[in-house]
Amino acid sequence: MILNASGCLDALAAPEVAAQLDIFVTKTVTPLPRGGNEPTRIAETDFGMLNSIGLANPGIDAFVADVLPELAELEIPVWVSVGGFSAHDYADLCSRLDAYDDVATIELNVSCPNVAEPADSVAEIVAAARAATSKSLYAKLSPASGDITAVAEAAGAAGADGLSLVNTIRGLALDATTLEPTLSTATGGLSGPALRPIALAAVFGCFRATGLPIVGMGGVETGRHVIELIAAGATAVALGTVLFADPEAPARIRTELEVEAERLGFETPLAAHAAAHEEEGRRRLREVA
Ligand SMILES: Cc1cc2nc3c(=O)[nH]c(=O)nc-3n(C[C@H](O)[C@H](O)[C@H](O)COP(=O)(O)O)c2cc1C
Repeated sequence: MILNASGCLDALAAPEVAAQLDIFVTKTVTPLPRGGNEPTRIAETDFGMLNSIGLANPGIDAFVADVLPELAELEIPVWVSVGGFSAHDYADLCSRLDAYDDVATIELNVSCPNVAEPADSVAEIVAAARAATSKSLYAKLSPASGDITAVAEAAGAAGADGLSLVNTIRGLALDATTLEPTLSTATGGLSGPALRPIALAAVFGCFRATGLPIVGMGGVETGRHVIELIAAGATAVALGTVLFADPEAPARIRTELEVEAERLGFETPLAAHAAAHEEEGRRRLREVA
């Protein structure tokens, strides 16, 4: 399954890109509208992109009234990403969304590097969200936490149905002549190729620790990158930064993935699931199935 990464595609502005996906994931929605950070909010680096969008979004009221009905018309399953500053915020957002059949899954963004960290722990947030909705819940984690596998285990124990791995990691770019930070917020979230091995390690470790379904993401640009995340333990893969440069990426990557799976001797791409884990991974796989 190929998804977009939250915040990297506006499906209403580019429905032809969304149509290439199996699932559309919204930009993170917060309780109140947010204008986001001042420009400059995007900077190029040698190995990826920095952003400090700051969760610009219309807020949950406008989202359910105006955006969700339009997304439903695209006839692609919709996952809604939500973010807040306390477990209470997440619970409120989940109970609001619980009423809408058009919401297939809620992704809890507990990991945005461009806003203040939520005050409560990931376990508290997931438990509060779990109590507020019967919908499937994915916890989106930061690769910057000291031990992401421990956070993943805590999220699973608190009731997460799956994990989205990974969000961006904090980085800094300096202006070529003034040496001042390029972004208005100084630091921002690093995405793109530099994240690839970090994402792979997170998926590998968290699959081994939890056996939960995982959406892998971070620097995916080719079918080979997708099959590596699947081999590490991902059951689905999301495309982020690549979509800014190549709107045809989902269709291209899907074709490349089929070719790569066949070249490696797998009947389907998903047959490579957990291949990187050898015995341990296969044991987990049997437990999950
Ligand atoms: C411009 C931009 C905006 C993003 N906005 C969000 C967001 O609103 N919520 C979220 O959970 N992640 C957000 N992300 C992170 C992506 O969903 C993804 O986790 C990250 O970019 C790694 O994937 P990539 O290297 O393929 O881009 C954003 C990333 C970018 C580049």
